[in-house]
Amino acid sequence: MNDLMKTNQGDSARLFDERVLVLDFGSQYAQLIARRVREQNVYCEIVRHDIAPERLLAHQPRGIILSGGPSSVYEPGAPRCHPEILRLGIPVLGICYGMQLACELLGGQVESAPSREYGRARCFVDRPEGLLAGFTEQTDVWMSHGDQVTRVSEDFVSLARTETCPIAAVRHRTLPVYGLQFHPEVTHTPQGSMLLHNFVTMVCRCEGKWHLGDFARETIDRMRQQIGNSRVICGLSGGVDSAVTAALLYKAVGSQLSCILVNNGLLRKAEQEAVIAEFTRHFRTDLHVVDGEERFLTALAGVTDPQEKRRRIGHAFIDCFKQEASNIEDARFLAQGTLYPDVIESGAAPDGPAATIKLHHNVGGLPAELGFELIEPLRDLFKDEVRRMGLELGLPGEIVWRHPFPGPGLAVRCLGEVTRQRLNVLREADAIVVEEIKVAGLYRSTSQAFAVLLPVQSVGVMGDARTYENTVAVRCVDTDDFMTADWSRLPESLLARISTRIINEVKGVNRVCYDISSKPPATIEWE
Ligand code: XMP
Repeated sequence: MNDLMKTNQGDSARLFDERVLVLDFGSQYAQLIARRVREQNVYCEIVRHDIAPERLLAHQPRGIILSGGPSSVYEPGAPRCHPEILRLGIPVLGICYGMQLACELLGGQVESAPSREYGRARCFVDRPEGLLAGFTEQTDVWMSHGDQVTRVSEDFVSLARTETCPIAAVRHRTLPVYGLQFHPEVTHTPQGSMLLHNFVTMVCRCEGKWHLGDFARETIDRMRQQIGNSRVICGLSGGVDSAVTAALLYKAVGSQLSCILVNNGLLRKAEQEAVIAEFTRHFRTDLHVVDGEERFLTALAGVTDPQEKRRRIGHAFIDCFKQEASNIEDARFLAQGTLYPDVIESGAAPDGPAATIKLHHNVGGLPAELGFELIEPLRDLFKDEVRRMGLELGLPGEIVWRHPFPGPGLAVRCLGEVTRQRLNVLREADAIVVEEIKVAGLYRSTSQAFAVLLPVQSVGVMGDARTYENTVAVRCVDTDDFMTADWSRLPESLLARISTRIINEVKGVNRVCYDISSKPPATIEWE
C-alpha cells in the first residue's frame, strides 16, 4: 500500500501513451468494450461515432474500435464515421454494426439476415491467426444482429463463419481493418478476451502499460501539486467512490483534507459507524459528521412523489453541506467521486458520445456557486477499477465491495411517505437481505441487493391472530454496467431464509415478495 506514496514521475508520463478509442454507434456494450480493453492494460476511451479525423488524431490512438449499434447501415440517417478514419493506418476493429459499416464503406454489401441471430452461436474459425491467433477450430460466440455482411470486396479475407452467418470475421488485405459480427466483449464469447488481447497487442502493438497502481501514483502526485498548501473538502457517502476519492486525497495531502459526512437519516444500517471508523481510525482525517436526520425527514414529510423526494433531498443536502463547509477555513477545493460512466452519460466528456446523453444522478450533485474548484480524481475510471484501486489503497473489503447505493438513499426504497418509523422497518429488513446474501457467499457475485418497503398492507396470520401489515420486496440484480440488469437467480433456500427472517424479526412486516423484473423495462430501484 505504501508503494502508492512513492512518486514515480517518469512512468506516469507514459501511462496514457497507449490508448484505444471506441467510436460509439449507440451500442449498449460500448462501455463494456472499453472496460475489456482496459483489462488488457491499455487505456480506452469512448468517443462520438462522428468524431472528426483531426480530433481523433489528437488523441493519438493506437487502435480504434467501431462499436455495435441498433441501426441498419443501409437506412437513411444511420450513424456513420468519417470514411477517412479507415484509411489513417491506425488499426480498426469493427464489431457488429461497426463491422457492417466498415465493410460497406470499403465496398461490401450489408443486408437483413435471412434469420436474425440472437444469443450463442457456434463459430468455425478458418484462419486461427492474427486477430484470431490461438482460437480453437470451433468456438462459441455471442451474436445479436438482424443484419449481416453478405458480400465483401475482394480486398477482404474471411476469417470465420457460423451456420447462418457466412462472414463472421474479416480482415482487410492491405489496411489494418478487421470486422467481427459477434461480440468479443461479452463473457458469453469465451475466447473474446483473447481476441481483444490479440487486437491490442498484435494488431495495435501496445505493450500494456496502463496499471492502476501507476495511475493512482500519478493521480496522487497531480493532486498534491494542484492543491499546494490549500485545504480540500470531500463529501463521504458510505459508498466506494467517495471513499476511494478521500483515500487518494489523504495520500496526497494528508491533514489538509477535511471530510464531510451528512447523515441524512436515509443511510443503511451501521453505515455511518463504518465510515466514521474508517476515516478516523485508519485514515485519521478531519471528519465532520453532520446530523441532518431531522432536517431531511421534515423536508420529506408528506411527500410521496419520487422526483419530489429527490429534489427535496438534493436541496437539504446542499444546505447541510454548505453550512458545514463554511465552518472549514481556507477550503479552496471540493473533491467528488465522479466516475467515467457518469462523465460519459452526462455528455461532459469533450468527445463523448453526445447521442446517448443521459443526465446522470451523480454528476452535478453540488452546485458551482459553492465557489470551490472541483477535483474529480476518478473521472477516468470504471467502477471495478475504482474498487481495485480502493483495495490497493488499503481500504477494507467492507467498503470496497459495498453495493452501490443511490444518493437519495432509503427514501427511494421507502415507497410512499418517508417516516422515521417506516425507515426503521426498511433498514432492518434491508440489513437481513444483505446479511443473508453475504452468509451465502453471493454478495460479491450479485451487483445490488436490497429491500424495498411497499406502501401496501396485506392480511396475514401470526400465531392465532390476524395481522394487517407491511409488504417488503426483495430486489437483487446482476449487471455489468447498471444500464441493463437481470434479476438474480438466488437459491430458493436463501430466499426462504430471507423471507422467514424478515417476517419473524422485523416488526410490522408480514409478507415478503421477490422482484423478478429485468431492466429494461423495469429499473433497478423502485422509484
Ligand atoms: P435505476 O433505478 O435507474 O438505477 O435502474 C441504476 C443505478 O443507479 C442508482 N440510482 C441512483 N443513484 N441517485 C444516485 O446517486 C439516484 O437518484 C439514483 N437512482 C438510481 C441505482 O441504485 C442503480 O445502481
